[in-house]
Amino acid sequence: MSTAVQRLFAKVSPTYDLINRILTFGLDRGWRERAAASAADRSGIWIDVCCGTGDMVADLAHLATDETKVLGLDFSWPMLRKARKKPGMDRTILLLADARILPVLDGSVDVITVSFGVRNIRHSHLTLAQTFKEFHRVLKPGGLFVSLETSQPQSKIVRWLFHTYACLFVRGVGGRISGSRSGYAYLSSTASQFYNAAELSETIREAGFHDVRYHHMMFGVVAIHEAST
Ligand SMILES: C[S@@+](CC[C@H](N)C(=O)[O-])C[C@H]1O[C@@H](n2cnc3c(N)ncnc32)[C@H](O)[C@@H]1O
Repeated sequence: MSTAVQRLFAKVSPTYDLINRILTFGLDRGWRERAAASAADRSGIWIDVCCGTGDMVADLAHLATDETKVLGLDFSWPMLRKARKKPGMDRTILLLADARILPVLDGSVDVITVSFGVRNIRHSHLTLAQTFKEFHRVLKPGGLFVSLETSQPQSKIVRWLFHTYACLFVRGVGGRISGSRSGYAYLSSTASQFYNAAELSETIREAGFHDVRYHHMMFGVVAIHEAST
């Protein structure tokens, strides 16, 4: 049985990449490249969870040495089908699975990344905290977790501009191009309601990670968090 989030991404998958490029003015590519670069000095097994159409998986595959295996994981088959067609994907493994119950052994993974997926897992604080615990379970000691996600700008004016942009532009343009008004209404509201960077850090810490650090980009509209097991 598919969940509401799975149905949403099935509906928006054909136009997902195009809308991302339009809504971020193409900046999303650089943000993912920057998040992927955090993994670059490691090898082993890297998993990008909630990989969607695979942009982050492609960035990781570009950086990975021959000794490294790159996997992408998502619970939306239509999103994974789009990922499969991207250049460089023949060197990766794509898995249809739920990020909350990873089909992976304890302590077997070197790096877990997630870009713009954490917001969709946060049905409640508890669900997100349990999912982070699941990431912690599969990472090796000394493993790295990297999250790229929308955040909350510290400046009240920038925050207001961001929320207005999400409410009007993301909802309007995304809804019109994808044909899913409700889908982009959901995505824009989750962006406005999501944690600020300090709150997300605390949730990551609750799951047992240490050395949690973050940096903002785009005046605080997005943040990259890194943490170690
Ligand atoms: C906003 S998209 C992000 C896709 C991609 N990471 C990117 O950077 O564009 C969120 C993705 O998370 C996936 N997703 C949401 N909840 C999930 C879960 N519990 N398990 C696996 N995938 C999930 C959705 O299917 C969707 O492909």
